[in-house]
Amino acid sequence: MKSRHSLIARTLGLSATFLLLHSSVPAVAGEIEKAVEYRQGVMNVFSWNMKAMGDMMKGKTEFDKGRFADHAQELSNASKFKLMNGFPEDSESDESDALAEIWMDFEDFESKYQDFGSAAQALEKVAQGGDKGSMGAALKKTGKSCKACHKKYKN
Ligand code: HEC
Repeated sequence: MKSRHSLIARTLGLSATFLLLHSSVPAVAGEIEKAVEYRQGVMNVFSWNMKAMGDMMKGKTEFDKGRFADHAQELSNASKFKLMNGFPEDSESDESDALAEIWMDFEDFESKYQDFGSAAQALEKVAQGGDKGSMGAALKKTGKSCKACHKKYKN
């Protein structure tokens, strides 16, 4: 019986040690997953608004200046999120399409986000003016700023 008890104690001791040693690993992994969810969520805010505006321009949905301006405003507001906080150092994961290159040249990555912000904020202004041709041009420019970043930093 004695040996059996000590076996249980050893097993329990071992698992307690195991938990102690490894408890920090899931916490960190969890933080990375939260950051990944956050940044992907923001990206989805971007793309939902871009698609709505793109569909109007392409004639897939009816063009409506007011609705277009609303989407442009939403996108512009979202471009002011401090999205860089959602890219903590080396936060790569299986759930993420972010490339390691981001953290090799974070300044450039950040400047691509600023380029997008400038384009989105210009689009918002143009949309308030209501000229369809100018809106289309500003939308295209914004789309290019998404692609410029994805090309280099997204899988
Ligand atoms: C500063 C760089 C940058 C800019 C600007 C940018 N993106 Fe992204 N985007 C990324 C990165 C990096 C990922 C991968 C994120 C991940 O999976 O962790 C991503 C992912 C996405 C995704 C996939 C989200 C998911 O659920 O997995 C969509 C959709 C997207 N971006 C749309 C856009 C649109 C639309 C724009 C412009 C209006 C834009 N992005 C601007 C860097 C950028």
